Amino acid sequence: DALDDPPAGDRTPREDAGTRFVLDPATPSLHADNERLRAAGPLVPVTAEGVPSWAATRYDTLLTVLTHPDLSREIRHWAARHESPPGTAIDRIVTDTSMLNAEGEEHRRLRTAVAGAFTARRLRQLRPKVEALTGRLIDALAAMPPDQPVDLRKEYAYPLPREVISELIGIPAAHQERLHELSDSVAQVDGSLDDTPDLRRTLHEFLDQIIEERRDTPGEDLITDLFKLREKDGGRLSTDELFATIELLFIAGHVTTVNLITNAIGALIHRPDQLDLLRSGRCPYDAAVEETLRWDSPIAYFPMRYAVRDVEIDGVPLATGEPVLACFASAGRDPGHYGDDAHLFDIGRPPGTHLSFGHGPHFCLGAPLARMEAEIALTALFGAFPEIAPAARPEDLAPLDTLLGNSTRTMPVLLGP
Ligand code: HEM
Repeated sequence: DALDDPPAGDRTPREDAGTRFVLDPATPSLHADNERLRAAGPLVPVTAEGVPSWAATRYDTLLTVLTHPDLSREIRHWAARHESPPGTAIDRIVTDTSMLNAEGEEHRRLRTAVAGAFTARRLRQLRPKVEALTGRLIDALAAMPPDQPVDLRKEYAYPLPREVISELIGIPAAHQERLHELSDSVAQVDGSLDDTPDLRRTLHEFLDQIIEERRDTPGEDLITDLFKLREKDGGRLSTDELFATIELLFIAGHVTTVNLITNAIGALIHRPDQLDLLRSGRCPYDAAVEETLRWDSPIAYFPMRYAVRDVEIDGVPLATGEPVLACFASAGRDPGHYGDDAHLFDIGRPPGTHLSFGHGPHFCLGAPLARMEAEIALTALFGAFPEIAPAARPEDLAPLDTLLGNSTRTMPVLLGP
């Protein structure tokens, strides 16, 4: 069972918290596990990668958690920080020094520094480039033997966001191949993050070199924005902050978008009726993107927020310093919010909301970009291959081996003539 009762020694740090659910990173039944978590309470005591935490699994509770003034992303508030094993996916996220883990004025400063890269105007400029990149990937797929299974996670969903982010950041063409090699070793196609200090150092040095070179060749991109900002505000944005920001965009903007495109393809190839709605123009591709975000959120569990004082959330008392995990995939299927058909993938659902990009001050900065990429990718794929069909049953596809991401390691299809 994916949510086994833990051994007795695992019942820390709260004596009164009762049994903890142990979250399994590679669970083949994420959505069934989440159903059990939602039934167990608004906030549920869990152990995630050895770390005891609360999990916010219901839509309304997650919304409260994402905006609660007494919950902070700043790691200094985590009382049992010393108990967290290093080298885990959770550790990678909570020790990130970017805007993700900043609050208040510090958060605003770091977020504003890059917000210019995500304006509607920049996105409009980026759109033809995303379409061209997609077109090249489609041409490469079309050149493959039509009767052999093709893994669309590897050949389509994975390369697209990576190249788009290079474009957005402003990585010169001559360096893109080397950067892709490096970033592929960090964020791998099967969803794992290989984040050894050596690899990080190499990536750091390489980005430093690129940033230096770009100083003399300004353009309409993020590196140029950051330079201008540094000149204007007297260098308040440190080199470390600049690097943490670029690295955040690479990691936050890549794997998540790969999962979104993979999950949308997976949902649609198994539901010809839904695909018909898109191909006939009765439903826009945007609707399929939004429904995928809700029904199969690219993020399963996301660390961490910490109680800055004793606080009660939906009737559950949290002690100062206790961490809370955000369960995005669970909130998307909460019948308490979406009704009894929450488990059904239905792109004709009346437009509503989901929390898969977060909510409040930390709302995903890249949401409009991710939406645009996914919409372009799906439109191009299902337009180019009218006979596309699954080459495996959903239950035979291995899930990602990580607590953070929700997707499959592969997405084999037959593209057809
Ligand atoms: C934050 C999801 C794509 C950049 C977030 C958060 C979520 C999220 C849930 C909030 C985390 C929290 O409040 O704890 C997603 C999903 C994506 C996606 C599902 C794709 C489908 C992107 C892209 C970029 C990006 C493409 C940029 C290129 C960021 C940044 C933050 C963030 C910078 C931190 C914002 C802040 O702390 O103020 N994302 N994201 N994301 N995302 Fe995304």
